[in-house]
Amino acid sequence: MIKLEHVTKIYPGTTSPAVDDLSFTVPTGEICTIVGPSGCGKTTTMKMVNRLIEPTDGEIYVLNERGEMQNVLEMDPIILRRNIGYVIQQIGLFPHRTILQNMGTVPKLLEWDNTRIRSRAEELLDMMNMPHEFLDRYPHELSGGQRQRIGVARAMASDPPVMLMDEPFGAIDPINRNLLQNEFLRLQQEIKKTILFVTHDIDEAIKMGDKIAILNANGQLEQYDSPAKILSEPANEFIEDFVGADRTLKQLNLIRVEEVMDKKPFLLQSTQSVEEALQVMDEEGQDYAYVVDSDRRLQGYVSRKDLKEKSGWIDEYTTTAATSLPITMNLRDALSEMLMVDYSTICVVDNRDRVRGTVNTAMVQEALMETHSSGKREEV
Ligand SMILES: Nc1ncnc2c1ncn2[C@@H]1O[C@H](COP(=O)(O)OP(=O)(O)O)[C@@H](O)[C@H]1O
Ligand SMILES: [Mg+2]
Repeated sequence: MIKLEHVTKIYPGTTSPAVDDLSFTVPTGEICTIVGPSGCGKTTTMKMVNRLIEPTDGEIYVLNERGEMQNVLEMDPIILRRNIGYVIQQIGLFPHRTILQNMGTVPKLLEWDNTRIRSRAEELLDMMNMPHEFLDRYPHELSGGQRQRIGVARAMASDPPVMLMDEPFGAIDPINRNLLQNEFLRLQQEIKKTILFVTHDIDEAIKMGDKIAILNANGQLEQYDSPAKILSEPANEFIEDFVGADRTLKQLNLIRVEEVMDKKPFLLQSTQSVEEALQVMDEEGQDYAYVVDSDRRLQGYVSRKDLKEKSGWIDEYTTTAATSLPITMNLRDALSEMLMVDYSTICVVDNRDRVRGTVNTAMVQEALMETHSSGKREEV
């Protein structure tokens, strides 16, 4: 869907290339992250795709409206740019235009009428969990995280199949960044855009990328691979250093709790009697058990100690669980949640709060050892 072939850029008046003989392909519907130290040619690479910069040498192809791969140099740059969503570094919202006007920039060029622009803008705000009131505000009236969301939404306004995102979450604090990353990944499962995503943060590259291109100074491609491959088989010393000594731990980013959880956990029903509950807990050798309602929604947990010599129904003795994990969470986030509460086992729930399994630190450790010993993990 995006294909670079031996692309080189030497800026006028300079001798060493900003991008040097770069080749890789981003398959349809995938995110490719480009990562590397500052000045290694990430932004230059991105801008060559939508022809804000022309390459000195080499070819770039993208899928055109007719579904054929076409050399961008043969495409009308105006049409090309309208068909490629672009989130520029440092957000770049127009300060004197409202959020609606900002989001409507490309749709306006495409001559959409105002009703259509507004309804598309509202739809995008819904998608990104922001209220419609924002449409009449100005960028400075929003927080950094909200502005970044608008920057992404603006790039998606005309629903382009291809998106270029230049450090889209770069300007916010780590907690909000993590939130935006998760939100965007969830969104991407629905919208399935073909995305070139630039970051200088290797953790972000690993988390967001189906593929990662790691660049060295002077735009040299050191490795282009899946995150799992890069972590398990770094191509050279540069990659090893860049990825960091904790690459085993980083592999936890690539595994979802769903893959390691116990899918048939021991659960009690809130309608069970104390007597019955105690009996099955004895049989199963469990001191604690999670309690669910008839829809498998998590109610909390009971302990054998609390039930001892009691009567009636267990929902009277059920304590609310301090935490549960969403099924899509990665093991790295899951592990940090687990370390924060001292439950030996945590429930994994779907988006309707129904218990789909349980997970504990031993399962995380086992997954990690498996990844490590097999040396690679293709399916993530
Ligand atoms: N317009 C320009 N003229 C000359 N050199 C440039 C220009 N834009 C970028 N460069 C140089 O090209 C290299 C790559 O820049 P850039 O693509 O912005 O890197 P990155 O986005 O990875 O930080 C840097 O050395 C930068 O100084
Ligand atoms: Mg840059």
